[in-house]
Amino acid sequence: MHPLLGYVDRWSVKPGETISLRVGSAKNAPFETRIARVMCGDPNPKGPGYREIKMPHPTDGQHPGKEQGTHLGSWLRFPSLDLSAASGGLVIALTAWPTTPRKGRQGVFAWTGADGTVVAIEIDKDGAVASVTSGGRTTSVSAGKQLIERAWYDLWLVLDPASKKLTIGQRPREGHPGFEDDGQASVTLPAVPKLGAGSALVAALPGKTAGARPEAHYNGKIERPTIWTGTDAEAALAAQKGKTPNGKPPRLLACWDFSIGIPTFDIEDVGPHGFKGKVENMPDRAMTGSNWSGKEHRWTHLPEEWGAIHFHDDDIGDVGWEKAFDIEIPRDWPSGMYCVHLKSAAGIDNVPFFVRPAAHQKKAKIAILLPTITYHVYNNFVRPGFGKQNRARAEAWGALTQQPDENPELGLSPYNYHSDGSGVTHAISARPMVDKRFNHFIMLDKSSDIGSGTYWLNVDSYIVDWLDRKGFEHDIVTDHDLHAEGVDLLKPYSLVITCQHPEYHTDQTLDGLKNYLDQGGRLFYLGGNGFYWKAVFHPLAPWAMEVRRAESGVRIWATEVGESYHAFDGSYGGLWRRIGRSSHKLVGISFTAQGTYNGHPYKTTDGIMDPRVAFLRKGIENQLTSGIQMGERGHMGGGAVGHELDRIDFGMGTPRNALVIAEGHVLGHPEYGPVNEDRITQFWPGTEKDLMRSDLTFFETPAGGAVLSVGSMCFVGALPVDNYDNLLTKMMTNAVERFIDPTPFKVAPLKLDGLVKGPTLPDGKPVGREVPPPLPVTGNR
Ligand SMILES: [Fe+2]
Repeated sequence: MHPLLGYVDRWSVKPGETISLRVGSAKNAPFETRIARVMCGDPNPKGPGYREIKMPHPTDGQHPGKEQGTHLGSWLRFPSLDLSAASGGLVIALTAWPTTPRKGRQGVFAWTGADGTVVAIEIDKDGAVASVTSGGRTTSVSAGKQLIERAWYDLWLVLDPASKKLTIGQRPREGHPGFEDDGQASVTLPAVPKLGAGSALVAALPGKTAGARPEAHYNGKIERPTIWTGTDAEAALAAQKGKTPNGKPPRLLACWDFSIGIPTFDIEDVGPHGFKGKVENMPDRAMTGSNWSGKEHRWTHLPEEWGAIHFHDDDIGDVGWEKAFDIEIPRDWPSGMYCVHLKSAAGIDNVPFFVRPAAHQKKAKIAILLPTITYHVYNNFVRPGFGKQNRARAEAWGALTQQPDENPELGLSPYNYHSDGSGVTHAISARPMVDKRFNHFIMLDKSSDIGSGTYWLNVDSYIVDWLDRKGFEHDIVTDHDLHAEGVDLLKPYSLVITCQHPEYHTDQTLDGLKNYLDQGGRLFYLGGNGFYWKAVFHPLAPWAMEVRRAESGVRIWATEVGESYHAFDGSYGGLWRRIGRSSHKLVGISFTAQGTYNGHPYKTTDGIMDPRVAFLRKGIENQLTSGIQMGERGHMGGGAVGHELDRIDFGMGTPRNALVIAEGHVLGHPEYGPVNEDRITQFWPGTEKDLMRSDLTFFETPAGGAVLSVGSMCFVGALPVDNYDNLLTKMMTNAVERFIDPTPFKVAPLKLDGLVKGPTLPDGKPVGREVPPPLPVTGNR
């Protein structure tokens, strides 16, 4: 792990409020801190120039360091499990769906007695294993039958004190022709272990020493571990297949029903003693159980069919580092992007946070709405090879060198797969987010001699730098604030600017933006692939977000059938377009083509000459005319149009008064492809020109506001070119002037020829009226 890393407890803070800084410093090395307001985070010497303002603070200076680690792998913890009642015979039964049965030893259930005795069910490459460790000696027995991955099995352990026999069994729920995976085996124990007070784990084995973290984490689902007294394994197996035992039948000692309390960290015991447990390190809940019938898809309607938890050996939760110190934000600090710089003998880091205006401070006319929910979802996006690939350039630029692939101890992002091949659904911010840093870049951008390879924070800082250099006062607010406060957050502002990639939203953030526009607000959407996926916060842990990638969309992994509803709030996951809130309605455009990080120019349409947008041409009337190029250069991929592109679609909800003032095309670039959600037959519903385009779009709203949407992820990278004095930026500066002018925008009366139903091509023709010729299949779509 990088020798010096930190994190703060939240992204957004007001002057007068306090945030907590947590720092892990290798070998307890002391470290020093200072705080800066960042105006431009791009480290590229051929970029606009890294720029920050020192903000002296009482915490500046040297601090003692503390080495702090992380632990990967999820499990359940039961602080108390008293097996005294099972002294005459113990049966442990559970149902499992292992995903990496040949990985090696994995703990499934383990009880540890007060005297150190351990009774455990494990799996390894040869099948299920029962073990008893007592007096420093372990006796184990394997069923000796390999388990198939992603198949349901009942596993059981019987401890019979009368015969001193320890038995392990495994039985598949469905037959697997040609594969013998049903079996049991017994061993005679040297002595009968003492069963009494103790504790238990699920999905891991206890660490070797007292107080050590669990080890041998399990990959896969586990359902309803149940403990019975006596030795009747068949009765226990029959119960595993039936409904959760209720009414507390005789011989039941404990039964943990994972379908109870799904959005919590609690595990309920429906047995007579109530041995409650806790979920550790964020495994996936609301996972289909062995009894899932397919008749319901929404777990809240029939939770008993979602009684499984999927554990992973690389899950991570709140890493829980000790606090280094609190930072109280001085009451006179202006709103802005900030960071704490950390430095030790071994390394440097910076930890971003954002200061929003306090009630006592005057608001600017412009608010930059930082897409912190998207930052959150993308944090620690492991891309193998990026650390090595970027290192030499980062060192030459004096930038941070850290990349997630070189810090595997910090876990994964929802852009990764778990080690067992399942998608990562959780995004955790209570850990160092090594790729959400200033003075840092992500892509090795060799598209031009000015390529910065910036993303997220540092791209978004170009907007800060641009407004500041042009003399526009602005405030910083975040998605997290919008989620909490809705439209009240945005109301004071004449213009709200979203950034390069506001991809993830909650119901609340979309409501806030919609209400803002409905009340006459003005909005710039300066990115691509925005407002695309739904993400939800954990109701008890603001540091955890969940993404279920249901049905379709351009995605790294797909949600499993039956698991499309979030565990955190029971709502349906996936594309906002499929949830009925397509961004066409909000900002006029929506995701249409995906490519790599290469940029291309816009070409203006006749729309640029429309009197409705005369304000864009103010002072540049001779340069900004129909059919000209702009955004030909940029610090992201070498041009303004690139990476992820959005287009209008009247049938999907683009307001009919929307005016496309420029188009960007990526024709002849096989690394680009249309988005899969547009495709409903074996043919793409249009030509490359129809579908692989960015529409720079303007429209007025009925309440006197307006929206300007650019529809490209590389757009913001083109703003700083020539000291923010290129044609595209001049046009955008004109747009800022008009959008902060209180004069209401007016919607001109429109006459339409006919109704548009369903997705529409740019010529207004509905998709599906006739089968268009298929696009040539090129590249790796
Ligand atoms: Fe994205």
